Amino acid sequence: MIKKAEFVVSNTDPTKCPKPDRAEIAFIGRSNVGKSSLINMLTGVKELAKTSQKPGKTQLVNHFMINDRWYLVDLPGYGFAKVSKDRKVKWEKMISTYLTSRSNLCGVFVLIDSRLEPQTIDLEFVNWCGEQNVPFVLAFTKADKQSKSQTDKNVKAFLNKMEEIFGEYPDYFVTSAEKQGGKDEVLKFLDELVAE
Ligand code: GTP
Ligand code: MG
Repeated sequence: MIKKAEFVVSNTDPTKCPKPDRAEIAFIGRSNVGKSSLINMLTGVKELAKTSQKPGKTQLVNHFMINDRWYLVDLPGYGFAKVSKDRKVKWEKMISTYLTSRSNLCGVFVLIDSRLEPQTIDLEFVNWCGEQNVPFVLAFTKADKQSKSQTDKNVKAFLNKMEEIFGEYPDYFVTSAEKQGGKDEVLKFLDELVAE
């Protein structure tokens, strides 16, 4: 359960994040996939993480303190076409440093847009996470945007692709920030991850 959620700090430099003295879980995925919206839905605090219809809203590593005990982290998205080469390189460095060196990171949610067929950029990203031993699960977002059968089809296609490439697929959740879909399941999983 999340009873309290507070913004702590934003950083460009992942080595300047808060002291890694407590459990931490991060949210990542393509720009506009719904990372910040999912965080707001899970915490029940409407504008805790800033959201926007325009991709590229979140540009920093944002730490939130949950229940005075663990950190939830909102990260900037990848794959935003309008980004300059320079910003893309900076993003890659910031995110790869964060994901591979954050010692207290116990889980990463990679968000996938449930409206789309498997996207190369997402498959490449989960591949990289696997190679780097980043402990990740999947959250398919925006499930309210189409029929359940269409969502199921896209989810299954993505999992099949993962199985083809990696021989397995991780735990996954189907969510809707709009309709609170998947909330109980994700919160239960988070509770278990951060349990002392
Ligand atoms: P960046 O910070 O730019 O990387 O994006 P983000 O992944 O944080 O996405 P954000 O949460 O800002 O959401 C992007 C847009 O999608 C916003 O207009 C949200 O209202 C919308 N959105 C996010 N999740 C859902 C959802 O589950 N259902 C619907 N219908 N819209 C959603
Ligand atoms: Mg965001």
